[in-house]
Amino acid sequence: MEYRRLGGSGLQVSAVGLGTNNFGGRTDEAASAAVVQEALEQGITMIDTANMYGNSLSETHIGKAIKGHRHQVILATKVSGGMGEGPNRRGASRQHIMEEVEKSLQRLDTDYIDLYQIHFPDPETPIEETLRALDDLVHQGKVRYIGCSNYAAWQTCEAIWTSRSLGLNSFASAQPAYNLLNRGIERELMPFCQAYKVGIIPYSPLASGFLTGKYRSGEAPPTGTRLAGRFGQRTLTEDNFSLLTRLEGFAGERSHTVLELAFGWLLAKPQVSTIIAGATTREQVKSNVAAGHAWRLTTEEVKEADEITKESLRR
Ligand SMILES: NC(=O)c1ccc[n+]([C@@H]2O[C@H](COP(=O)([O-])OP(=O)(O)OC[C@H]3O[C@@H](n4cnc5c(N)ncnc54)[C@H](OP(=O)(O)O)[C@@H]3O)[C@@H](O)[C@H]2O)c1
Repeated sequence: MEYRRLGGSGLQVSAVGLGTNNFGGRTDEAASAAVVQEALEQGITMIDTANMYGNSLSETHIGKAIKGHRHQVILATKVSGGMGEGPNRRGASRQHIMEEVEKSLQRLDTDYIDLYQIHFPDPETPIEETLRALDDLVHQGKVRYIGCSNYAAWQTCEAIWTSRSLGLNSFASAQPAYNLLNRGIERELMPFCQAYKVGIIPYSPLASGFLTGKYRSGEAPPTGTRLAGRFGQRTLTEDNFSLLTRLEGFAGERSHTVLELAFGWLLAKPQVSTIIAGATTREQVKSNVAAGHAWRLTTEEVKEADEITKESLRR
């Protein structure tokens, strides 16, 4: 397994990580445990979750699955998504963060979180309040590094400069949607992250499984798969299938698969720290780790893949 720095921080994370938004929803406790077990056996250290995944069961499943292996894991979770009714049950206020961090620690059955991320920007809370709360958690030893997710480039920049001017701990990472079908971050966020050494953690790196090639044009999605659900319609479009055909051709000419291209293309970007691919089975984890090692694209190959997918810059 390759390990990379999380942005400009000293923390090393596995280049292939594990996303767990299936846990507690599409995978029960035993299936989640098997996925985590395989990830650890494969050298994955980065496990990404959120307080809201699977109605909080994702954190609970992970807490149980890593029992006895806590030291092997870089545990990343998130706060700010809605956790129920009531005025303070969402957002990035000091009140909500302080309440939720205790619940996450309890569910994860640990006394520290390696990377605590603000899941969504909260325009109603001053960024200084959010950052001071996170900084306090770092000083209390409950959190080791902090990051953001779904922030625009300007919001990330505002947060970094607020931390700098107040002498607070600063975001080490940003977690945006990023894959061959969705390259929108390349305009603003990516150059910002490069200049300011913020590690990028692309989410939905396989476009929810589409970039594995298991969905075929004109065929019903395989039963039980993620995109067989209501979620699928947005992704299973003729435009995407035609792009997939071109990507499969490009990869095939070089004796690679589109799954290997999805990983290799992301890992060719130095700003990318870890690829938190979601998985529902041990086999998926194994093939994702193998795909992560299989192909280091040359600069020329990255350019060619960029040319094929240039429409996805708009998404
Ligand atoms: N910060 C945010 O707002 C945000 C939003 C979304 C996701 N995330 C994070 O990013 C992680 C990854 O995103 P994601 O899970 O949405 O999408 P993803 O990683 O692009 O796709 C995951 C899905 O792809 C399928 N898959 C994975 N490996 C496979 C393989 N080798 N062969 C065949 N199918 C395979 C599985 O589908 P099946 O279920 O069909 O088996 C799996 O559920 C999440 O788990 C979560 O931690 C964060």
